Amino acid sequence: MCGIVGYIGPKNAYNVVLKGLQRLEYRGYDSAGVALYADDELKICKTKGKVSELVKKCEKENITSGHIGIGHTRWATHGEPNDVNSHPHVSNSGDLVIIHNGIIENYESLKKELTNRGYSFESDTDTEVLINLIEDVKKKENVKLGKAVQVALNQTIGAYAIAVFDRNKPNEIVVARLGSPLAIGVGEDEYFIASDASPFIEFTNKSIYLEDGEMAVVRLGRNIKVRKIKNDKLIEPYVQELQLSLDQIEKAGYEHFMLKEIYEQPEAIKDTYRGRMLPEKGLIRMAGIDDNIEKFLNARRIIVIACGTSWHAGLVSEYLFEDFARIPVEVEYASEFRYRNPIITEDDVVIAISQSGETADTMAAIKIAKEKGAFVFGVCNVVGSSISRETHAGAYTHAGPEIGVASTKAFTTQITILTLIALKLGKQKGEISNSQFHAYLNELDSIPEKIERTLQTNDAVIKVAEAYKKAKNCLYLGRGHNFPVALEGALKLKEISYIHAEGYPAAEMKHGPIALIDEMMPVVVIATKKGHYEKVVSNIQEIKSRKGKIIAVVTEGDTSVKQMADHILEVPDTFEEFTPLLTTIPLQLLSYHIAVMLGKNVDQPRNLAKSVTVE
Ligand code: G6P
Repeated sequence: MCGIVGYIGPKNAYNVVLKGLQRLEYRGYDSAGVALYADDELKICKTKGKVSELVKKCEKENITSGHIGIGHTRWATHGEPNDVNSHPHVSNSGDLVIIHNGIIENYESLKKELTNRGYSFESDTDTEVLINLIEDVKKKENVKLGKAVQVALNQTIGAYAIAVFDRNKPNEIVVARLGSPLAIGVGEDEYFIASDASPFIEFTNKSIYLEDGEMAVVRLGRNIKVRKIKNDKLIEPYVQELQLSLDQIEKAGYEHFMLKEIYEQPEAIKDTYRGRMLPEKGLIRMAGIDDNIEKFLNARRIIVIACGTSWHAGLVSEYLFEDFARIPVEVEYASEFRYRNPIITEDDVVIAISQSGETADTMAAIKIAKEKGAFVFGVCNVVGSSISRETHAGAYTHAGPEIGVASTKAFTTQITILTLIALKLGKQKGEISNSQFHAYLNELDSIPEKIERTLQTNDAVIKVAEAYKKAKNCLYLGRGHNFPVALEGALKLKEISYIHAEGYPAAEMKHGPIALIDEMMPVVVIATKKGHYEKVVSNIQEIKSRKGKIIAVVTEGDTSVKQMADHILEVPDTFEEFTPLLTTIPLQLLSYHIAVMLGKNVDQPRNLAKSVTVE
């Protein structure tokens, strides 16, 4: 969490840093701050709240220029989100200034030592401890800033992406990373620093992604030198050419990123399977799978690890792998997996799913699986992200940047990738015949158009949202392939409208949640034609007889559920295995409209962040 931005060069650093922070606000928005060096002076402005608050404060205090600057948007870990705890933090002498994304776990013992040596602290943060530790090393050992940062970091335990500069040498920024992402944008006569490339993509498409345990001194007029933090070893930096465009990270006329991203799903799914799925040839081609096909075919089981919405995509894949490829699957929360004593062998294939590719728990779980000898395959959206680099092989979802904190297109594109893998393995294992395989590919190819049709039911969804926007609770039920969709629907509602919602397998309702049902309780039931239709219809009757309000997601043309439900939302017919790609859509729209009607901040819901790089 937390977004960091830095700039050094001929432009006004204030403009670059503030705009960059706005793009990174999805990473946290509890507080924001900037440090600029201008007119021989280090100026700092920071405030509780969003970047827009920071802009107001900077303008009021006339802190709006500099040729070097660093900025931070914070998701609070240590200390409440107030002005004092906001970054940047300054060392006791006032010379050094830092921004930090991550956690220094041993900050308390370091703070004690520094306090004993006369240092004092204004804030409750681990970051203020780190900058004073760097200052202490710099003074004691009489070394340059880069060296001081390196020595200090070797005394810390934790995670970080940091940028530091010295007001006495305002032509360089020292950066380092361990566990949190850090990219350096390389311009003609300027450098950018950011948590991801979005703050600098309009200026340069050349980027160096620091690896874990690396640091760099970014100095004007000199090529970037990257070193290992541990042993100072010099590393040749790899300058990557990025494909990202500015259009992709702007709202394109939509009121919110979330709505834009919901509507992008037909195209995003096409981008996911383009070049990989060739229905006319009856072929699925995926380099990451083809190159490791034996591992998959001989897998004793597949273990899927993920968090949040990605975990729900993992649950959907359990049905797909078992149906198509007959491979046993376990789906694990990465945070639980890593702290258990999981039994993993070399015959296991681990699939790690992560939109951001930066989630700390998923990353840690991958490391454990690798240590135990498993083959680890990544499904990530962000190209070049930490998880995509840590895994043995993988497949990108190619959904394009997802900015709305509540995940939408990442979810459906993850399901698409996992469907392709499951189909491919099923075919190779002889579990799916040629004709079935062709039929599946053709049907999958029609899904984007069916999502377009589903999106046209938006007006019907708005009516449902209007009717239930004041609900205090909401239940989501689904069976089989649509059980994970029920969980995801409930999560979406919770995340952005703050209405309490629970997802359940429909049949489990009678083991508890049924006690909650009365005329005040809306129940969203996924009741598409295939699969467990009759059973779900019985569940609907049970809700009806207890006066619950039923919102049913049904297959176009359904008449039986229509008679019982208070509202229906229709999706086109498709194979049962592909229904999650359609049934998810009205649930995303429902939570979106309710949140808008309640006046909530849809793209940046309270307390959440898009990329969770703390444990
Ligand atoms: C956060 C986000 C969720 C996301 C989860 C996992 O909680 O708010 O939308 O599903 O992290 O993130 P990942 O990037 O690993 O998919």
